[in-house]
Amino acid sequence: MLPSSTRILLVIGGGIAAYKAAELIRLIRRDGGDVTCVLTEGGSHFVTPLTLAALSENAVHTTLWDLKNEVEMGHIQLSRQADLVVVCPATADLMARMAAGMADDLATTLLLATDKPVLAVPAMNVRMWQHAATVANVATLRARGVSVMEPAEGAMACGEFGPGRLPEPLAILDAIRAHLSAPQVLAGKHVLVTAGPTHEPIDPVRYIANRSSGKQGFALAAAAAQAGARVTLVAGPVALPTPPGVMRIDVETAVDMGHAVDAALPCDVAIMVAAVADWRVAGASPQKRKKDGSGRIAPLELIENPDILAGLGAAVMRPRLLIGFAAETENVIDHARAKRARKGADWIIANDVSGDVMGGADNTVHIISAAGTESLPRMAKADVATAIIAKVADALA
Ligand code: CTP
Repeated sequence: MLPSSTRILLVIGGGIAAYKAAELIRLIRRDGGDVTCVLTEGGSHFVTPLTLAALSENAVHTTLWDLKNEVEMGHIQLSRQADLVVVCPATADLMARMAAGMADDLATTLLLATDKPVLAVPAMNVRMWQHAATVANVATLRARGVSVMEPAEGAMACGEFGPGRLPEPLAILDAIRAHLSAPQVLAGKHVLVTAGPTHEPIDPVRYIANRSSGKQGFALAAAAAQAGARVTLVAGPVALPTPPGVMRIDVETAVDMGHAVDAALPCDVAIMVAAVADWRVAGASPQKRKKDGSGRIAPLELIENPDILAGLGAAVMRPRLLIGFAAETENVIDHARAKRARKGADWIIANDVSGDVMGGADNTVHIISAAGTESLPRMAKADVATAIIAKVADALA
């Protein structure tokens, strides 16, 4: 459910997917939200103001030049009184005008004037989506903090096939829910998060590491703190700022991380996002290892690190909700299911890291629990974090 009395300003662009905005309005209202629609001139060719007014039970705004509204600075008010502005469908043209900062109609004017978060849901022909101009516009909008959903893939109204379809209305509703961080839903709870890689020393100047950036774990710690939890973040070596309200403990090795986690117990929820090194070097050299001129180097002896997640799964002070992550490059769901059983976790959040996920800004995750598998659409890591924290709160409620 959406937080009570949530107000959504829905900007409807001019594309065939505009008709799906009608279904979205129905879903948002069923979820407890209030919707006010702004229809672009293009949008009005696909869906009528009467349809939108009937479904939303609110006046539909179509023009910047409405004398009655503008006496009260209507476009500024419209842009400020919502909790979230949703642009759906966000056409290539509408996103281009947003990226350029144009204000030549009601939709672009209020998008320029708003101080509220904006979620854009693109829908367009596959070639338009993949065009360098659109790619650059989406990157610009994302860099400015607009959340741009990934379009769905499939057969399109124009007869072509590929990414560009409007995501299903239920997936859009999920993204909206994720945006409206439910206020203080984790108040009074202690959430423990591990994040980042671990470094396993070979000698004083060298170490074994991995590509984890820590971004997803830090985003989760931030989202949990925003939801009112007391948060302990055990962080491997990463160059990220500590999120507001989070108590951070920096560690280097897997063994140190294990000790810091034990010391932070008890907690209500543990989210183990860290990419813990599986192995450490037995008897790391106290001095820098030197070449001896033979052209060979003595092999490293590796020993297995303790499994922190599995340790928590079997601990006397086991958290009420224990969540692991599984970064996989193949058979993502199967491997994650096996890890859930092996490590005694309640949920495993699986992601495919064969692409640009590690270090990147976005993530596509699958939540594997006793109830089955739930896949979230590709989103910014901050949005993934908000969605997971909302589910954590539901699970604890
Ligand atoms: N994990 C942990 N301690 C370890 C290894 C992993 O706590 N020594 C946790 C991670 O933080 C993550 C989950 O276990 O939540 C899965 O990590 P992953 O590296 O994918 O699992 P492994 O057991 O190392 O499996 P494999 O390397 O065989 O894929």
